[in-house]
Amino acid sequence: MQTNLRGRDLITLQEWTKDEIGTLLDVAFTLKRDRALGQPHPYLRDRVLAMLFFFASTRTRASFEAGMAQLGGHAQFIESRSTQIAHGDTAKEIGEILGRYNDGIAIRHCDWGVGNTYLREVAQASRVPVLNMQCDVYHPHQALADLMTMIERFGDVRGRTATVSWACAASYQKPISVPQSLVLLLPRFGMNVRLVHPPEFALMPDIIEQAQHNAREAHAGFEIMHDFADGIRGTDVVYAKSWGAMQTTTDEAEGARLSAKYASWLTDDRHLALAGEDAVFMHPLPADRGVEVADSVLDGPRSAVYDQAENRLHGQKAVLALTMS
Ligand code: CP
Repeated sequence: MQTNLRGRDLITLQEWTKDEIGTLLDVAFTLKRDRALGQPHPYLRDRVLAMLFFFASTRTRASFEAGMAQLGGHAQFIESRSTQIAHGDTAKEIGEILGRYNDGIAIRHCDWGVGNTYLREVAQASRVPVLNMQCDVYHPHQALADLMTMIERFGDVRGRTATVSWACAASYQKPISVPQSLVLLLPRFGMNVRLVHPPEFALMPDIIEQAQHNAREAHAGFEIMHDFADGIRGTDVVYAKSWGAMQTTTDEAEGARLSAKYASWLTDDRHLALAGEDAVFMHPLPADRGVEVADSVLDGPRSAVYDQAENRLHGQKAVLALTMS
């Protein structure tokens, strides 16, 4: 077990070793058990986390804020639009200044081509850990909660197959950070990954290259497929969510037109029936109900979406306690 995690940034789990992620999982499950037993665990008394949002959130904000309170500390909510960040505070200034007020800085910045660079500039200037609450490239705390959920469902996940699939959406071009984080992380824990998407909805080439490398190292499978039904057939995890066509176009209207071509990429009971008999449906939420996924699947017995959302709390508390104590 790796215990020397104080002061570490978490921008992508790819920069953490498998042993270090194992420590996160171990502590997360312990904290989940402690909370279930009503056992106090104030590891961060008097510590403060700055939570800086450039983009909307329900689960991420609520779970980080609740987590800090349960660890005995405090989280301050800062929005870019209602602060001087909108009037020119630079990433370096934010890193320097919020780093002097706080014991950690968590940031959500999903703007394509901007978010990850911003986080890294803040981290460069900050004396305290910087935690990624989702950027344009990665969503590490979602992937951590998802891996926890798969371990809870299956026990040993090695040899299990996870289908990480694109799904149609009507709302907006969603970030590609969730599928990218999943295809990087799951093979490291021995899971076979099927990445399934229409040709226009590819992920970043360097992420794919790294995911293939991770799979080779772990002797796990990694396939890219372009047929939704084939991608689901016989799998253990149907993780089907929408993401934008950023590798093809950054134009919102063109992205929406491309998405509409694939309206049949909706997980309904007929599709789920193709999966393995103990397969689970996963989604980070929010979902476009009736477009990405049918209500009967999202609310059905195979859905793990509320466990995923709950595990955001426990996984993040592990990250906070280990990096900020
Ligand atoms: N899954 C997730 O990150 O949810 P929010 O966008 O509501 O934070």
